Amino acid sequence: MNHDIKDPSLRAEGLRRIEWADNDMPVLRRIRARFAEEKPLRGLKMSACLHITSETANLARTLKDGGADLVLCASNPLSTQDDVAAALVQDFAIPVFAKKGEDRDTYYRHLQAALDHGPVVTMDDGADLVTAILLERPQLHAKMIGSMEETTTGVIRLKAMERDGALKFPVVAVNDARCKHLFDNRYGTVQSTVDGIIRATSVLLAGRTVVVAGYGWCGRGFASRARGMGAIVVVTEVDPVRALEAAMDGFQVMEMAQAARVGDIFCSLTGDTHVIRLEHFRAMKDGAMVANSGHFNVELDLEALEKAARKKPGVRQYVDQYTFPDGKRVFVLGEGRLINLTAAEGHPASVMDMSFAIQALATEHVAKNRGKLAVKVHPIPEDIDEWVAAIKLEEMGLRIDRLTPEQEKYLSSWKLGT
Ligand SMILES: NC(=O)c1ccc[n+]([C@@H]2O[C@H](COP(=O)([O-])OP(=O)(O)OC[C@H]3O[C@@H](n4cnc5c(N)ncnc54)[C@H](O)[C@@H]3O)[C@@H](O)[C@H]2O)c1
Repeated sequence: MNHDIKDPSLRAEGLRRIEWADNDMPVLRRIRARFAEEKPLRGLKMSACLHITSETANLARTLKDGGADLVLCASNPLSTQDDVAAALVQDFAIPVFAKKGEDRDTYYRHLQAALDHGPVVTMDDGADLVTAILLERPQLHAKMIGSMEETTTGVIRLKAMERDGALKFPVVAVNDARCKHLFDNRYGTVQSTVDGIIRATSVLLAGRTVVVAGYGWCGRGFASRARGMGAIVVVTEVDPVRALEAAMDGFQVMEMAQAARVGDIFCSLTGDTHVIRLEHFRAMKDGAMVANSGHFNVELDLEALEKAARKKPGVRQYVDQYTFPDGKRVFVLGEGRLINLTAAEGHPASVMDMSFAIQALATEHVAKNRGKLAVKVHPIPEDIDEWVAAIKLEEMGLRIDRLTPEQEKYLSSWKLGT
């Protein structure tokens, strides 16, 4: 089996962590049991470009048990858990092309290796496979049945492809499912981002000024958790409605130019580019810490910072120090790559349970509807979203009311009630 991982001897620890994550993924377990019986993905050639974590391993097992012929590569050079990669290869016979800390060339070589598999279905976290297929592998797109996309940034890219007429096969926006972004982005990204910043720095948040760039699903969650830990939280935004929401949620709202002067810890969660630029780094206090948890490492303009300040890498694991000529220091965490996966373990399994249950069911949906889906970015069918929420509630031991026939009638009528 062709693969490229860092260290096969890490297998036992990887397996332990995959099983530990599985304990907290009951919805995905149910799907796996059904998939193992029904084999809805029998013979489906799949390539998935995801963060190689213990939760992803449980998704990969599910797809494989469903009959898929699956290959994995990393969706970020720093997010791979090498022990998990070892266990996937050796215990589950799933080929993996990923090594934590791989350089840019290796990252793209691994992406190509996943495409050499000849997939008819792909799964992305950031649209890298789809982009490579469209730009470099015309022979693959004719055979493609469809693809699934995990994150906001990927969906934005795919919608741009659709708008430009460049998309050649149907794509399902898993990120836009309610059971994905409401929980994964708002609670999962956030808890693991706080975890990543703390693991990287061991900093006390209480009493510190934390600047959050972006008040979307991830930013809102991060702002509220940082406040809960005693930080004074400042929000920067470009969307007036979101900025207003932040203000009414009780956060200080200001431009980055002003926030840069008051912040102690910065975290960018926008999906945008160069949100924190050289003029902002220059305005920061000595000792300011700067992280990104948005999908790509472009949110911080590190190229400009590197030209203007002397870099001392690794003053602590995951921390690089930049010193300006006047002696002022700025600390950049995790090389500006998503800090929750670089310095921590990514989202907790309980939340990935829902995201990956949706991925698995979206794959089944795409396979079942082969040739029937239009070439565009599709939302997740509502029944999938609702099934995942209902099963998660059941597994949490929570029961909710059902509409009575009278209520159903009332809610569907425009004549009753006045
Ligand atoms: N770290 C992770 O594990 C993880 C998990 C989920 C999503 N993400 C990524 O996080 C990013 C944000 O995702 P989201 O779901 O919150 O998106 P979102 O679209 O809900 O929110 C992004 C917000 O950033 C704001 N924004 C854009 N440019 C800005 C700028 N220059 N300054 C200030 N604010 C700006 C937008 O107005 C928007 O309100 C995306 O890149 C997404 O892919 C990362």
